[in-house]
Parts: sequence; structure tokens; C-alpha cells
Amino acid sequence: MSKFIIEGGNRLHGELSITGSKNAVLPILAATVLNRGTSTINNCPNLEDVKTMQEILTSLGLKVERKGQSITVCGDTIKTNEIPERLAGKMRSSIVLMGSVLGRVGEIFISYPGGCAIGPRPIDMHLSSLRKMGAEIDDLYKGILHCKVNRFSGTEILLDYPSVGATENIMLAACLAKEETIIRNAAKEPEIVDLQNFLQKTGVEINGAGTGIIRIKGRSEIKADVTYKVIPDRIVAGTYMTCVAGAGGELVLRDVDYEAVSSTAYYLRNCGVDIKLIGEKDLLVKSDKNLKAIEVVRTTPYPGFPTDMQPQFVAVLAKAAGASVVIETVFENRYGYVEQLMRMGADITVRERVAVVKGVKRLTGAHMEACDLRGGAALVVAALSAEGTSVINNIIHIDRGYDRLEEKLSSVGAKIIRV
Ligand code: UD1
Repeated sequence: MSKFIIEGGNRLHGELSITGSKNAVLPILAATVLNRGTSTINNCPNLEDVKTMQEILTSLGLKVERKGQSITVCGDTIKTNEIPERLAGKMRSSIVLMGSVLGRVGEIFISYPGGCAIGPRPIDMHLSSLRKMGAEIDDLYKGILHCKVNRFSGTEILLDYPSVGATENIMLAACLAKEETIIRNAAKEPEIVDLQNFLQKTGVEINGAGTGIIRIKGRSEIKADVTYKVIPDRIVAGTYMTCVAGAGGELVLRDVDYEAVSSTAYYLRNCGVDIKLIGEKDLLVKSDKNLKAIEVVRTTPYPGFPTDMQPQFVAVLAKAAGASVVIETVFENRYGYVEQLMRMGADITVRERVAVVKGVKRLTGAHMEACDLRGGAALVVAALSAEGTSVINNIIHIDRGYDRLEEKLSSVGAKIIRV
């Protein structure tokens, strides 16, 4: 099993380009199932979850080919409607295949999705919405769901919470539905807008993504040869911002969607990090490591502070002068990494969804275990700013969201190796 060895205390200097967004490319790949033509998706990051999605599409009988950062999916035939359990169980995003596969072939066998262990991640809103659109869903055995529909019927759906996954699933189901679907209290994340932009390219009449109301007019068939470029990953950009914040230095991040990272930039600025947009898509991030605590930060749906940045931000606050309060409102159990940070000398108290982070003068290198994707990234952020050597085991979690993180960070002056 691979691990990172990090020698802390080196400032970061140089520039890094931001790769395509994992959370955008996965639903877009799921959407290619709807298209009988050829979809060419550019700017696809080289990540475990993306490989898993490619394998799933191949197992369905679609022709999938990867060349560099480009994935081509030819959707003229689908041979099966069973998603292999070993693949679906690897990641959360497999659940959005329900909407697209059911929409296209009318039946699917799929297990409950996997993904990071960050608390219970129910799929009740996905299931109730698809049922409202006409799907019959039975729990077979051992967590396998059997879903059937003649053809989805467009309808109005009001989500109890702006769930990203449920919004995506409904959008996909609605594309081949009879009549119009309206999603109210829809998620507004940039990845939802990206999915809409891809679907529009295939000819689907869909609008409203980025607001709380999305309207989709169903079609009887989608057949288009399209090329689409995925948006840059706002969480990867945000993670590099926290790396500089903690380790100090000056980094230019290329190809950033500034609006998408602005809540992360806002809170890092409040801590004393200097962040400037230079040109249209480049961000200059400077830190002298003199960080101060912030009163309180709450994770909320977009455009609020993202839950996917909470662990990396806590790793920065661990060395910020004063006490900060962090409230996780999206997931129930997202502080698993805190115990590991405490091995480095961090002073953090967690009570249910609230963490009180008392900044310490120094963190010292330690042996740690990554227990989920962003929690693992937080350990890297802390180790870069610590004195001495840290070992981070179980980095398979980190690889799910960051493409060759050690190469990127080494290129800007960090001392980090994979063994
Ligand atoms: C979430 C994040 C998303 C992030 C992704 C990957 C939010 C709002 N969502 O999306 O930004 O990119 O993780 O880490 O920040 N829920 C239910 N029933 C459901 C679906 C969701 O109760 O059927 C609850 C979840 O338990 C959670 C909340 O709704 O508390 C948000 O979940 P959702 O947005 O669906 O999660 P993801 O799609 O995984």
C-alpha cells in the first residue's frame, strides 16, 4: 500500500495548472449513456473514480476510449442493465447512473453506492424523486436495487434539501422523459451547471442550472456527436490554496474558475492569506504563515463554504493564532481526520458537528492514516506546514481526488515522495 513521506517546512513557489473537476466529469460521463451519438469529453482528470466510471460504462456495452485527458464514449448500443457491484460500491457517483440508464433502457440493477466514510449518506431523495417520475424500485437482496420504468414522466419535484446527487439524477432521468420536469430547491453547484451545459450541447432543452429552479423538456431520443470540456476542479484549486496558506510562499494557480473558489478565498483572506485574481483565470496566492483564527465558518451548499474544503481549512486553522469555530452542516460525520491532526500536536475539540480549533505555534511530523479523500488531503496540508517528517498511510483515498499530488507539489518546492 502506498504512502506519502513529507518533510515539512518548505515554502511553495511557482505555478500549478488546475485539472478538470472530478465531481463534474462523473455525472457528465453518466450522461453520455443517454446519447446514441459520440460524446468526446475533454479535460478529464486521471483519477481512480474516473477510471471506475469508464469501467462501468464499458461493462454496460458502450465503447469507451481514453486518450490523454480526453474520453470518448460511443453510445449507439447498450448491452446490459446491470452495474457490477464491485464497481458501483467504489464511489458515491455511481448512483447517478440510475437516472441515465433507466431513462435509456427502462431497467437497472444497481447496488447502493460507495464513496467516502463521512457519515450516513442516504439516497431517499434520489429514490422518491425517480418514483415520482414513474420508476418502480425494489430492494432485491444484499443491497441490490432493481428499478424499472416504461418511460419517465416529467413532473414537478421539490427537494427537501438541495442535494447535488439527487439534482443530477433527476436532470438525467428527465432528458428522455415524457413532457417537462421542474426541479425546485435544486442544488446550485458549478458541477450542476456543467452537467446542464453538456446536456444542452447534446440538444436537450434544459435551463436554470445555477439557480434553485431547473426545467428540462424531455425528448424521445438523444443522438448527437459532441465535444465538451469539463470545468476546472474548484476543490483541487482550494486545496492548493490551503497548502500555500499553511506552508507559506507564493503560488500562481492557472485555469481557476474564480467564482467557484471565492468562498474558500474569502475565508482564507480572513485568516491573512493574500489572494488575487491575475488575468481572467489565474490566481496568485501568497502567505507569510502569520495566520489568524476566524470567528466561525459553516459549511453550506454552494455558494457557501464547501464541505469538501472543511478538512483542509481546519488543517490551516490548526496553526492560526487564536480559536476558530467550524460548523459542518452538510455531513454528519466529517471530522474523522481530526484525531490524526492531533498526532501532530493540533488542539482541536469536536462535539457533534462543531469543531473548536485552537491554533498552536507549531505542528510536528507524525505517522498518520488517511481515512477519506478530503480528510487525507488535510493531512497533506498540515504535514507541509509541520516541522519534521510525516508519513501518511492509506493514500489510496487521496488518489481518488488528486492526480499525482506528490509530483505537482514537488514541482513547486514541497518535499514529498510516494513510496
Ligand atoms: C456532496 C456535496 C457536494 C460534493 C460531494 C462530494 C453539498 C450540498 N453536497 O454531494 O458539494 O461535491 O458531496 O463530496 O455540499 N441527503 C439525504 N438524502 C438523499 C441525498 C442526500 O438525506 O437522498 C443528504 C446527505 O446525507 C447530506 C446532504 O443531503 O447530508 C447533501 O448531500 P448531497 O448533496 O446529495 O451529497 P452529494 O451529492 O454526495
